[in-house]
Amino acid sequence: MEKKTFYITTPIYYASGALHIGHAYSTVAADAIARYKRQRGFDVRFLTGSDEHGQKVERKAEERGITPKQYVDEIVAAFQNVWKVLDVSNDDFIRTTDERHIKIVQKIFKQLYDQGDIYKSSYTGHYCTPCESFWLERQLKDGCCPDCGRPVELVEEESYFFRLSKYAPRLIQHIRDNPEFIQPTARTNEMLNNFLLPGLEDLCVSRTSFKWGIPVDFDPKHVVYVWIDALSNYITALGYGSEDETLYNRYWPADVHIVGKEIVRFHTIIWPIMLMALNLPLPKQIFGHGWLVLDGGKISKSVGNVVDPIELCRRYGVDAIRYFLLREVPFGSDGAFTNEALIARINTDLANDLGNLLSRTVAMIDKYFDGVIPAPSVAGAEDETILTLAKELPARVDEQMSALHIPDAIGEIFKLIGACNKYIDLTAPWILARSEDGKERLKTVLYNLAECLRIAAILLVPFLTSTPDKIFAQLGTAASRQTLESVSFGGTQAGSHVQKGDAIFPRIDMEKELKELAAQSAPAPAPKSEPELAPYKEEISFDDFQKIDLRVGEVIACEEVKKAKKLLKLTVKIGNESRTIVSGIKKWYAPADLIGKQVVVVANLKPVTLCGVESHGMILCGSDPADETLSFVSPAAPLNSGWVVR
Ligand code: ME8
Repeated sequence: MEKKTFYITTPIYYASGALHIGHAYSTVAADAIARYKRQRGFDVRFLTGSDEHGQKVERKAEERGITPKQYVDEIVAAFQNVWKVLDVSNDDFIRTTDERHIKIVQKIFKQLYDQGDIYKSSYTGHYCTPCESFWLERQLKDGCCPDCGRPVELVEEESYFFRLSKYAPRLIQHIRDNPEFIQPTARTNEMLNNFLLPGLEDLCVSRTSFKWGIPVDFDPKHVVYVWIDALSNYITALGYGSEDETLYNRYWPADVHIVGKEIVRFHTIIWPIMLMALNLPLPKQIFGHGWLVLDGGKISKSVGNVVDPIELCRRYGVDAIRYFLLREVPFGSDGAFTNEALIARINTDLANDLGNLLSRTVAMIDKYFDGVIPAPSVAGAEDETILTLAKELPARVDEQMSALHIPDAIGEIFKLIGACNKYIDLTAPWILARSEDGKERLKTVLYNLAECLRIAAILLVPFLTSTPDKIFAQLGTAASRQTLESVSFGGTQAGSHVQKGDAIFPRIDMEKELKELAAQSAPAPAPKSEPELAPYKEEISFDDFQKIDLRVGEVIACEEVKKAKKLLKLTVKIGNESRTIVSGIKKWYAPADLIGKQVVVVANLKPVTLCGVESHGMILCGSDPADETLSFVSPAAPLNSGWVVR
């Protein structure tokens, strides 16, 4: 029988700056769902990517003096690294600068234009560049962007528009007929009452005021503006409209688009209308999750309170960060990110509950049965609770995951872990070990504990990517055998050898850690008070100054002066002549820093020999009074070498 397919996407991330831990939230959640479905035997396609066009990128690249493509290439490489560090298992990564995307967006735009769904008109509106959003006069807050509070620019330009209004009645009907389409349900009402029922305005879908976008091929002064470009990624990545539509035919319509709550509107209004206009099936579900907030505000780069996911993974481990993101916040609501909450989760759930259960179980099997998992022997009344929980667990997790209640699914697994810890207290293995009868009972107790841990670890596979294997290794059962088929109770083989290992989640000393973090984020110490400037030298006449011959020179070669700590030997071209100048700047410059640079040379200084090298002149440098910072002086714009400096 053919496997059932499951197509899941994250939003494509704006390639306008680095990712923060809030961004990681969408993708780690989608990753957990994708891994879960794979474990359940689905043929999964999991897509993420980058949204690379727009004025913001164009401006940022310009500020850095590089091309927009160079800029996004750097940013996207960093995105891909973050996803790799977080063990994100995407099957594809779409970039809106990919040829496969550009060609099809142009084709879609043309089709919509040809069939009259896109038309040309002119646009007047208020534009917020950092948010890349247009606002109507009435939407502004005190004349500023209602999202970020920054000033907006009034713009008027010729634009293409997409007739959203034409399809609104069909979309309203679709939403009413398909209560699963927008989740959580509260967002359905928000979309209907706030946007669809009051009436849709046609959408501006092209711009002429910047160039960094997909050109409208039949009117190239326009570039496709934001949503037609961005949303199409979900089908261009599947090869829709290309010569090979195999993936599209296999995976479309998507089972779920995971998106943050602020872009639910675009995904549940513009995207379905685009698809209706193209006569394509609609995605089955759009799930709008909440925000991870920091100090009461959405974590966001433009607000300036960035939390770097790579640094967090380095400090606490990938699974600890994944666990926090997936467990802490009810999927669909907002939740706070604080260092205290993160450390508390690590200590309570991972180090105490899960980590201790594993180390206690393995240590007891080691101590009482020489490291060999015993076959169960004498049952007891205490067994009931954990056996029932363990047997029911796969179905309970499935029930929660089917509704995308990720924290509750993990919560079910931790209920079993909690019950196992209680089971140890109730059965008191250290007392059982004292008598022969007790030892028979102890066999069952330890077998049950090892077995519950094995089952919990199998069910943790979608959420934590390295911990389950560590658990299997300590329990002495090969990880590859721990698939969902082996989740039923009794899979642990008596006679296997446990392998005592390190604590899977070392406890963090909260107080010490918070102090360290506070010290790291404390403002940099005030700079030492400026040492006094050197006193001015004695006055000289203009004629005296005129005696100094200053020239523009160009460094054509440079090397260290052997045995001299401070000296570099420069070959400087002045007009047609090249001469050797020795300069005491080795502390601040490597030879390669200087080659090709223009400098100002004191050209008529009497030659001197320094460390055996004859120096013909001096290059001008500026430095602080303590000689800590130094820079050579260079013309602000290139001048011909040999020209006079006065
Ligand atoms: O919106 N907490 O890109 P983006 C939770 N390019 N989620 C957060 C978050 C936070 N603090 N900050 C951001 C875009 N996100 C568009 C999408 S899709 C066709 C185009 C989430 O980089 C945000 O909600 O601004 C969104 O789901 C994702 O990160 C990408 O945001």
